[in-house]
Amino acid sequence: PAPGWSISADVVVVGSGVAGLTAALRCEAAGLTTVVVTKARLDDGSTRWAQGGIAAALGEGDTPDQHLDDTLVAGAGLCDEEAVRILVTEGPDAVRRLIETGAQFDESSEGGLELTREGGHHRRRIAHAGGDATGAEISRALVEAVRARGLRTVENALVLDLLTDAEGRTAGVTLHVMGEGQHDGVGAVHAPAVVLATGGMGQVFSATTNPSVSTGDGVALALRAGAEVSDLEFVQFHPTVLFLGPDAEGQQPLVSEAVRGEGAHLVDADGVRFMLGRHELAELAPRDIVAKGITRRMQEQDAEHMFLDARHFGADMWEHRFPTILAACRAHGIDPVTEPIPVAPAAHYASGGVRTDSRGRTTVPGLYACGEVACTGVHGANRLASNSLLEGLVYAERIAADIAASHAETGLHARVPQPLPYPETPEHPLLTPEARFTIQRIMTNGAGVLRSAESLAKAADQLQQLHTDARDALAENGKTAEAGVDTWEATNLLCVARVLVTAARLREETRGCHWREDRPERDDTTWRRHIVVRLNPDRT
Ligand code: SIN
Repeated sequence: PAPGWSISADVVVVGSGVAGLTAALRCEAAGLTTVVVTKARLDDGSTRWAQGGIAAALGEGDTPDQHLDDTLVAGAGLCDEEAVRILVTEGPDAVRRLIETGAQFDESSEGGLELTREGGHHRRRIAHAGGDATGAEISRALVEAVRARGLRTVENALVLDLLTDAEGRTAGVTLHVMGEGQHDGVGAVHAPAVVLATGGMGQVFSATTNPSVSTGDGVALALRAGAEVSDLEFVQFHPTVLFLGPDAEGQQPLVSEAVRGEGAHLVDADGVRFMLGRHELAELAPRDIVAKGITRRMQEQDAEHMFLDARHFGADMWEHRFPTILAACRAHGIDPVTEPIPVAPAAHYASGGVRTDSRGRTTVPGLYACGEVACTGVHGANRLASNSLLEGLVYAERIAADIAASHAETGLHARVPQPLPYPETPEHPLLTPEARFTIQRIMTNGAGVLRSAESLAKAADQLQQLHTDARDALAENGKTAEAGVDTWEATNLLCVARVLVTAARLREETRGCHWREDRPERDDTTWRRHIVVRLNPDRT
């Protein structure tokens, strides 16, 4: 069926985390008619799960240049220095504007912001809220602002595809909406500017810190629309995720780096601090180094997890500084006040995504991307802790400024969308919802923390088989599965997983969070460059 309903706007923002809502608020403030569409409820994305905080050079003696240096080191030679310079220079004011919007950060006894440290930061520069509930507070403040400004929102709206006009310019998006009354079923928002802020793709792996909505929808949409996608091989695994057993699946409780920032130690089963001597910053080394240190020790000791020991914090500090983590641990029968916390790495953040320039423009005219879905170049091969909320803020503001400037120059003109193939084509057959779990297992086994040519080749074959089976089923039966949110999500997961594995196979070196057991060295001669993928530019 063709879309059953449509609405029109100057801008449609897809996603409602820090990036999406900031972009929407700024576009609306610039006088643009703005619609926010989001897959679940407004506060259901990754932002609200962020614990540690938001990094910016706000402390005494800190400077954007020092923040830049730490970001470049973590990025392992692949950051775009100009993109990082924008981030660290515009970051402090962007945080101040977030505070003006209503976000309340923790303050020190002297009255200024209380700042903590995390991995890879040489200074205390992480602002936090509610102790360890920073994302929840940012989300609360932005959602309230969106409601107060009366912005039009459509919830439970999974984005399907980009609409373009005959010249290939953005004309809007199609959506699958459930339970929103007049906007139920497949519909479209027509708009000459589309801002993708759909978040990450952690659900491509079995165990992840990401919520269930993080299924790579924005990257899959961009790929189908012929936009360039970059650096997908750089999946960041968070070192310290509460270990709930070897078969734990789906979203896992995070134990923030800020716990290490405040002095917790990583120890093995014998109580040995194994990160000492591995890096000058020990437990506070950049995230990839700590994740590798933990994984290596687990291998050496044939252990399923390591421990994070913060018993010396005492009950008061746990209750005031880390109430969310304390509650999550206790809910799983672990009391960090009296025992070390079992931890292991899990998929956390996509450092790559839809390639953009410094104004958030993708390679498709009128299509923008910001936040985790984007690859602005600030993260390189490994994102520095707590730079993601900041990136979402800074680049969302830049996008809104760019759209407003285009509007002022030439006006934003509605465009006539070309019809789209729907719901499936032989190149993009739909998967059954159960395929999600098969993909997660394939990716965890073949493209997880440790990768090799062999493990990646096996994963590529298995993913190809899933695609071939779906394509054959489509040819035989005229359809593969009932079109619905679960089906689209599984289909998007396969799309991004295949590109991720292709990039990981190509990158025959170890760099940042891409760890190849068969190529353990970083190779600056061949690989100080990006893998950029563009699929299906004519939808053929
Ligand atoms: C954390 O609190 O450890 C997460 C911070 C981040 O991912 O930037």
